[in-house]
Amino acid sequence: MLRKAICAFLILVPLASQLEAKVTKAVFGEMPDGTKVEIYTLEEGALKARIMTYGARVVSLEVPDRGGKVADVVLGYDNLAGYTADHKSYFGSVVGRYGNRIAKAQFSLDGQTYHLPANDGPNTLHGGLVGFDSLVWQAHEIPNGVEMTLVSKDGDQGFPGTLTSHVRYTLEAHALKIDYTASTDKDTVLNLTNHSYFNLAGEGNGDILGHLVMIPADRFTPVDSTLIPTGELAPVAGTPLDFHKATAIGARINDDNEQLKLGKGYDHNYVLNGKIGMLQKAAQVTDPTSGRVLTVETTQPGVQFYSGNFLDGTLHGKHGHIYARRTGFCLETQHFPDSPNHPKFPTSELKPGQTYHYTTIFRFSTAP
Ligand code: GLA
Repeated sequence: MLRKAICAFLILVPLASQLEAKVTKAVFGEMPDGTKVEIYTLEEGALKARIMTYGARVVSLEVPDRGGKVADVVLGYDNLAGYTADHKSYFGSVVGRYGNRIAKAQFSLDGQTYHLPANDGPNTLHGGLVGFDSLVWQAHEIPNGVEMTLVSKDGDQGFPGTLTSHVRYTLEAHALKIDYTASTDKDTVLNLTNHSYFNLAGEGNGDILGHLVMIPADRFTPVDSTLIPTGELAPVAGTPLDFHKATAIGARINDDNEQLKLGKGYDHNYVLNGKIGMLQKAAQVTDPTSGRVLTVETTQPGVQFYSGNFLDGTLHGKHGHIYARRTGFCLETQHFPDSPNHPKFPTSELKPGQTYHYTTIFRFSTAP
């Protein structure tokens, strides 16, 4: 009996400790006002993630290929100055208060109209002029990861209510898990997501047009010329937006299709088939060359598939790599763009006493 118990203990303990991520912290840089920006390194097996407090950003994510060779699969910069100088890419950041667009930079809530800064033509993109991506979050270590906290004051970028957001990054076996929670002291709207650009061949290693994408969604939200949803939930069937079957990003990206023309490629929100709040597969991407596979799971109702159409070769990223058009893709799990102006979309409202809570998992594996 005792022998059995000791054996079980010896087997179980190493297994449990294998799942414990190592977490270390360092200073990444300093903001112009002297605020220190910290960077947390999370390591579990062959997976290594670096997360900094400026924008709660994923700075690097090292993942093995089919032969065990590790590469950093997210776009970004070597230092803080690179990130603070770039106001259009949102590399690795948590975007908020409202990820993606709000039409005409305004919305109504409880009979009152709120005006936001327009930073994308007539619309508000990713929370306004100073979104959550360009603020320094407070961080502390938690088991297997780091928790980032940001308090956004009532009226910040025009949004009502003091909003306290927590984003927890943790490593699981072969996966980076992101938990978002938030609470408010007044009725408000929010949509938090992570804006990492992936290149599964390794950042700076060519375009992503050969990556195979699978998105198990039957419908998407078509957009107008300013990338605001028309309100329709349209079937993907029979269009180049249908990714039920894994297909190369580049296979149909230049097809004569109105939505692809408006998005300048893929920049569309997919309506996930499952229930909001239940973890479901949102997408799977395979790089046939390296064999790296990314599976995205989420409890959110939608995912924005963005094929990096606005990258234009003017950004010099990590190791001086030039990020040309479509050298990274994003899968932003989210509420639908412009939900505050579409009462038929799943609500993005949060009231005092309620807790906003979503989970997204970026899981890595390899294909032969
Ligand atoms: C989002 C948008 C894109 C683009 C990028 C940032 O993914 O949907 O249109 O604005 O952010 O460049």
